[in-house]
Amino acid sequence: MSSRHARTLSDLGLDRDDLSGAAAGDWIPTRGPEIVSTDPTTGEPIGRVRAADEAAYEVVLGRAEARFEEWRLRPAPRRGELVRKLGARLRGAKEALGALISLEVGKIRSEGLGEVQEMIDICDFAVGLSRQLGGLTLPSERPGHRLMEQWHPLGPVGIVTAFNFPMAVWAWNAALAAVCGDVCLWKPSPRAPLSALAVQRICHEVMVEEDAAGLFGLLVDGVPTSTRIAADRRIPLVSFTGSVAAGRAVAATVAGRLGKAILELGGNNAAVVLDDADLDLAVRAITFGAAGTAGQRCTTTRRVLAQRGVSGRLAERLVAAYRTIRIGDPMDSATLMGPLVGADAVDAYRRAVAAAVAQGGEILCGGKAIDRPGFYVEPTIIRAPSPDRFPIAHEETFAPILYLFEVDSLDAAIAAHNAVPQGLSSAIFTESFRSAERFVSAAGSDCGIANVNTGTSGAEIGGAFGGEKDTGGGRESGSDSWKAYMRRQTCTLNFGGTLPLAQGVEFL
Ligand code: UN1
Repeated sequence: MSSRHARTLSDLGLDRDDLSGAAAGDWIPTRGPEIVSTDPTTGEPIGRVRAADEAAYEVVLGRAEARFEEWRLRPAPRRGELVRKLGARLRGAKEALGALISLEVGKIRSEGLGEVQEMIDICDFAVGLSRQLGGLTLPSERPGHRLMEQWHPLGPVGIVTAFNFPMAVWAWNAALAAVCGDVCLWKPSPRAPLSALAVQRICHEVMVEEDAAGLFGLLVDGVPTSTRIAADRRIPLVSFTGSVAAGRAVAATVAGRLGKAILELGGNNAAVVLDDADLDLAVRAITFGAAGTAGQRCTTTRRVLAQRGVSGRLAERLVAAYRTIRIGDPMDSATLMGPLVGADAVDAYRRAVAAAVAQGGEILCGGKAIDRPGFYVEPTIIRAPSPDRFPIAHEETFAPILYLFEVDSLDAAIAAHNAVPQGLSSAIFTESFRSAERFVSAAGSDCGIANVNTGTSGAEIGGAFGGEKDTGGGRESGSDSWKAYMRRQTCTLNFGGTLPLAQGVEFL
């Protein structure tokens, strides 16, 4: 363990070299392969975790199922009490957890802390929700009858998360699932096992205090555990965040057993900038959206569709803004862009830049990997020829590459905007009420998220999060996303003394 990591690991109780990646209540011995957590800033190992094997999987799922029998009957506001305690402990550990995110996946300090805040926020949301899991009462067509809807817990929920939000996406799912009366099995990204272990340790304390061992289980692993979860009929709901290709395979397996899936897959998000836009807003929002998190959010701004009258000035101002981005150690508070997560991400960046140039793109700034330890690249802006002659812009490359297109009109912008396979997030910059309303109308952006005068990334937890088309169609986090974690039951209650049949049917 290097001195760079020692303090954070010891603050979070992870300063040992026999870490197990399987837990449900307490830690479970496992014989899976060793997973090495690597610091993308330096390339050195941070820690080693023993992956979950099949035996550990069975233990964790068995304990979850046993807990579910009791948990589903605990009154929802009591379940909320446990989530309230979880949020309080996350608040207490915010500094150290944020630092671990920066060390393990390379997010800058303020974004690491922001991710922990996102966990705290969803816990607060879930506590309130625990008193609001209500159903409708509907009029019956029959005299002396009432229709009533209620929501019941589903069972174990499999939560498969990606490296780029190694804690918050788990929390969106787990906080909601817990108040809904479900139990959780978390399979984090093998690139961020320590972030998961740190959160699991905090869950453990809360589970002990609230007598709820088995509620939150952890299975650190790669593909084998994802495949097991997808195929397992004991897991009625699988929430999967990751690539489109992996999500397609998980979705097919879950659908094959008629299970439910929440899919949060790729994004290819665009900002439309019209001639009448406030460029100060647009430049700041696009720079954060495209270069923030080193382009590794599913909500990252990857395309700009700028109207002809503004595109030249916008390009100049973006290039000027990009030159001010301090690249460096994410733990240094002056840094605005840290490394990519690994060498394979740098390769993907290189390949995308080369493809863009081969397809007629012109590099306005950036375009190269940076020669220093760790996995650094330059944030890149590429002027693209035309939306229909630039296939690379239809792909999501998890890196800070922004493609700049020029369009004639709002209609042309919307057409190009919707022409990609993904449908997560979108934004328009305009001072025109009419243009803004058109963009968010049924004939406007086809994404799950459509913003006006603010960027594509950095959504709040209060709204439902997710997108359409190749993004997978799932919704997580706020609004009424909780309904996906419960089963709806329609009850017809006859309080009369006769038995009228619906639709006027006569029998006996
Ligand atoms: C993701 O990249 O998987 O809206 C999630 C955002 C964050 C969540 C991103 N709140 O950018």
